[in-house]
Amino acid sequence: MSEEKGQCATSPAMILAAVVGVFAVPVLAIVMIVQLVLAFQAGHVDKNDPRMTDAAVQERIKPFGDVKAIDPSAPRVEKAGDVVYTEVCAACHGTGALNAPKFGDKAAWGKRNALGFDTLVKNAINGVRTMPARGGNPELSDIEMSRAVAHMANAGGASFKSK
Ligand code: HEC
Repeated sequence: MSEEKGQCATSPAMILAAVVGVFAVPVLAIVMIVQLVLAFQAGHVDKNDPRMTDAAVQERIKPFGDVKAIDPSAPRVEKAGDVVYTEVCAACHGTGALNAPKFGDKAAWGKRNALGFDTLVKNAINGVRTMPARGGNPELSDIEMSRAVAHMANAGGASFKSK
């Protein structure tokens, strides 16, 4: 019964211990949990995975759109006949879609070739019946068209010479 004021049970050392206990321990626990999660995540990234190579990652995170400087006065590079064929004509002439004469089909091309190279080129440029003008690609030049026609017609038995 002789407890005096000022001699209560909370000494400065106890206050310090309480502060450490209340704040430091949870903070320490959080830090450890974060470390644990980071350690797990590091284990999930397989550096040998081809999708994880620097190049692949750069490709994925690169910004949308590329700026390409094209000199408008640069001379146009005419594509070769086989390139035009593969890019544009093969869609129909490779498969025979819409009854297009198939590449390498000598019977189908024989009667076309009999029309002569100039007529075939003219028809391919302007379109004829179900054959769309320039194969549907207005970007193709006359020279590219004549090269593509020669490429196909020659595979069908002709020996035309394009520009
Ligand atoms: C959308 C389909 C399609 C594409 C793409 C296409 N053609 Fe054709 N082409 C046809 C069809 C169908 C015919 C047959 C037309 C007919 O005689 O009725 C044809 C016929 C032709 C003929 C024969 C014309 C004639 O007078 O008999 C030539 C030459 C020709 N195409 C060249 C080309 C070239 C070169 C390209 C690529 C630049 C091309 N075609 C792309 C569908 C296509």
